[in-house]
Amino acid sequence: MKALKNDVLLRALLKKPVDYTPVWLMRQAGRYLPEYRALRKKTGDFLSLCKDKSLACEVALQPLKRFNLDAAILFSDILTIPDAMGLGLFFETGEGPRFKHPIRTAADINALPMLNVNQDLSYVLEAVRLTRNELNGSVPLIGFSGSPWTLATYMIEGGSSRDFRYTKEMLYQQPEILHQLLQYLTDIIVDYLNAQIKNGAQIIQIFDTWGGILSFESYPLFSLQYIKNIMSRLMTSSESLPVPVILFSRQSAQLLDMMALSGATGIGLDWTFPIQKAYHQIGKHVALQGNIDPAVLYGSNQVIQQEVTKLLHNYYTASGIKTGYVFNLGHGVPQYVNPDKVRLLIDTVHEQSVHFNIR
Ligand code: CP3
Repeated sequence: MKALKNDVLLRALLKKPVDYTPVWLMRQAGRYLPEYRALRKKTGDFLSLCKDKSLACEVALQPLKRFNLDAAILFSDILTIPDAMGLGLFFETGEGPRFKHPIRTAADINALPMLNVNQDLSYVLEAVRLTRNELNGSVPLIGFSGSPWTLATYMIEGGSSRDFRYTKEMLYQQPEILHQLLQYLTDIIVDYLNAQIKNGAQIIQIFDTWGGILSFESYPLFSLQYIKNIMSRLMTSSESLPVPVILFSRQSAQLLDMMALSGATGIGLDWTFPIQKAYHQIGKHVALQGNIDPAVLYGSNQVIQQEVTKLLHNYYTASGIKTGYVFNLGHGVPQYVNPDKVRLLIDTVHEQSVHFNIR
């Protein structure tokens, strides 16, 4: 495969000097783009887009056609894994993801199938391969998975949740069966991510979206332990290059020290914690990604420019070196933002970051 023309994101993650700050956005492909909505309407639903490699590739490339992004992310979902297990994933408008068959008992867990990712999730791997080919070395391709804990919450609750009642019930009533589920997911995620790497993913992001709802004592036992195990088992790229791993989590400021020792190359932060504090705490060990409030995109042009410049200033003043930072939102691009605001955000990151002349 071709050498990368734009390797700024890889360089920033590996803390090699960069001329400007790389930027990609969680949910950069999605409903805020009219061309996405048009394609989805034609196809019928979100899962059909994910399951057709040409459509998934087309959607992944949509934001890159419009904006000067420094990476593409595979178009798929973290819930493809439980879907492949036969849990019956569906999306109800306005309600998010749902499963027809939630996992609540030891018997449910014992009945889960052994997955062969190359067969059962072949459509994802084909989308990775096609997207990587179509990118033709322009920018790196990010592959991803949910963490075992985050996937388990969806499988046990049967969808999104406010209080995670059933998952927490299992945690405190039958921790050993929850561990069994988490280990089962861990082994599948290792296969899944290694297969994505083999098919062309150059960076991996692990979404531990719900790690922050665990208690401080439970987090290392029920989430981080398994993430560490996954990271230790990931292979190098098809070009024998190390594959940087970004660990993203929400509401996890209290967990940063532990996350930084997980083996991750970079830590993705939500918008609730000041990046300069995160830098002082863990910036020597890992790169940082984030963390502007996605709702800034509802602000005026001037507000967007101010907020971007402030964040760059906060990071680079704390770090004193022009690397180790990846610009992103603290969570996904909201569905109702105007794409022109997204363009302004991205261009402002590039333009303003050039002025931080530190080495
Ligand atoms: O552009 C990208 O970021 C890549 C594609 C991607 C999607 N989901 C597409 C998607 C990625 C990386 C995800 C990750 C994902 N999916 C997470 C972790 C990140 C996070 O949000 O915390 C989670 C928890 C999911 C599960 C999921 N999928 C939810 C909760 C929802 C509904 C929420 C919503 O926005 O409606 C989805 C649907 C989903 N995943 C959409 C997209 C573009 C919307 C689909 C549509 O209605 O067209």
